[in-house]
Amino acid sequence: MCGIVGYIGNKNAVPILLRGLERLEYRGYDSAGVAVYSEKEKEIIVCKTKGRVENLETKLYDNPIKGRIGIGHTRWATHGIPSDTNAHPHFSKSGKVAVVHNGIIENYMEIREILGSKGYDFVSETDTETVAQLTEYFYNQTGDLQQAVFKTLEKVDGSYALGIICSDFPDMIVTTKKNCPLIIGLGQGENFIASDITAILQYTRNTYILEDNEVAFVSKDSIKIYDDKKEEIKKDVYVVDWSIEAAEKSGYDHFMLKEIYEQPKVVADSLNRRFKPDGTGIQLDSIKLGREELSNINKVYVVACGTAYYAGLVGKALIEKLARIPVISDVASEFRYKDPLIDENTLVIVISQSGETADTLEAMRLAKKKNSRILAVVNVVGSTIAREADDVIYTLAGPEIAVASTKAYSAQVVAMFLLSLHIALETGKMTVDQFKEIKKEMEKLPSHINKILTKAPNVKRFMEKYIGSKNVFYIGRGLDYTVCREGSLKLKEIAYLHSEPYAAGELKHGPIALIEESTLVIAVATQEHLFAKTMSNVKEVKARGAKVLIIAMEGNREIENYADDYMYIPRTHPILTPLLANIPQQLFAYYMALGLGNDVDKPRNLAKSVTVE
Ligand code: M6R
Repeated sequence: MCGIVGYIGNKNAVPILLRGLERLEYRGYDSAGVAVYSEKEKEIIVCKTKGRVENLETKLYDNPIKGRIGIGHTRWATHGIPSDTNAHPHFSKSGKVAVVHNGIIENYMEIREILGSKGYDFVSETDTETVAQLTEYFYNQTGDLQQAVFKTLEKVDGSYALGIICSDFPDMIVTTKKNCPLIIGLGQGENFIASDITAILQYTRNTYILEDNEVAFVSKDSIKIYDDKKEEIKKDVYVVDWSIEAAEKSGYDHFMLKEIYEQPKVVADSLNRRFKPDGTGIQLDSIKLGREELSNINKVYVVACGTAYYAGLVGKALIEKLARIPVISDVASEFRYKDPLIDENTLVIVISQSGETADTLEAMRLAKKKNSRILAVVNVVGSTIAREADDVIYTLAGPEIAVASTKAYSAQVVAMFLLSLHIALETGKMTVDQFKEIKKEMEKLPSHINKILTKAPNVKRFMEKYIGSKNVFYIGRGLDYTVCREGSLKLKEIAYLHSEPYAAGELKHGPIALIEESTLVIAVATQEHLFAKTMSNVKEVKARGAKVLIIAMEGNREIENYADDYMYIPRTHPILTPLLANIPQQLFAYYMALGLGNDVDKPRNLAKSVTVE
């Protein structure tokens, strides 16, 4: 939530900040702004506006500013409506200090009151403005910016990644973080700060990843970093291996479409590295989760949010089915507050694309406190969840820019396949021969996805037929139900259509009352042992006037008797269908959003990385 970027060097900061903000817009896009120290004016000049970075660009075109140090922000509003005034950067009273912030200052009202009584007026409704004012307040007392920042941090509670500049120190950006991501990019005669690497990837791959409560003073030629005891520390340089092309649209109309089409490669990459060369099992990087460690585990929890949670449900179903270990699943925002029954014999699997989702992170920290073993499935290398977990499986999806998760879901589902097979093999619940049979089918998944993608024009036709739908139900049983939950989320998220996923057998216990003439029902029916049961539910909704679109495996011609429309996925092992059956759903949501004129990559009210609770 919210993206921040900063530059200090010999170039004009403004275009660098703008490019960075464009790449960070997935984190929020309610408003955007930059603050740049102008050598000519000898002061910090702020330009900010409600709306997207393109609005900011227009504003800057009319009122150009120039300088070699600056900070920028793209906002996902938490305190105060999206407006020019509430947009970041925020200024201190005298205009000396400018601040960009990602996160929430929880005690901002208290600080406002104290500063208010000392003559500080606040112009915005934001929590962030308190940081700018407080820094100036302490700076006026001490005459020392470093001390002022440390003192400010002692007073603020909450989560933050901050970029601070002060017109008395036009050669320095101060930055710090707590529970929000922040990296420092290392250049030659220039340095950067950013919420994530995509913002600065075109300039550098060398980074310092800031830990909570570390404070950095960044100049163009030097960086001083202090730990929470205010002692100067040295950090290792972390070199990022993502390519700049991966963070660009490469000719696709939208990042979401590009990321959908990247899935064959993502799945191939995820599989290639993970099969043992002799084909007898799975190698999960350096994770020690063998027979001995697993013998101490009597319970597994899967914890995540949104799409990552739905990928986790696939893991739950498969660990239970293949390894016969009970698995409890919970969304992280619930898990955190329910005093979960976990201990040192619990394996807690947390799943997160960004590795920064606040609820997932805090859920993980809670589980750690209770001595559970933490296995994180994460996409962003070096993210907080990845760093704090006991073990990490990286999902190798590359940067996912569209807010709606597609390739990351597929990579997470593949990780769940691999993990459940690994546990089943290690606990002796699956033989190597059984594994080899599934492995053979897994190796075909990339080409199966390619085949489904060639059917995209059919999905587009379904969109044209069903574009007028006001309600869309997704029904399925078993693994198909997990797929429905993801499909329905995607449609809500980008097409803004009301949609409900239901366990097919549950429909008649209430929600069937909502089915009326022409209601669209998407039935996922790849689990053939449940096929007859799901078809009886299909008949029930058809009898009430619904239009039914069925997704099933090739060769199951029976669906043609029940469906108004249908889409086949290539025949595969039944445990692997959650990956394939979801691809038509992704395309359907994409085309619906497009057909309805929505902003596919940046849907309203959302942000990619949810770093607030
Ligand atoms: O970064 P994470 O995987 O932790 O994010 C979790 C959810 O916020 C995320 O999956 C969200 O539901 C997606 N926007 C759905 O497309």
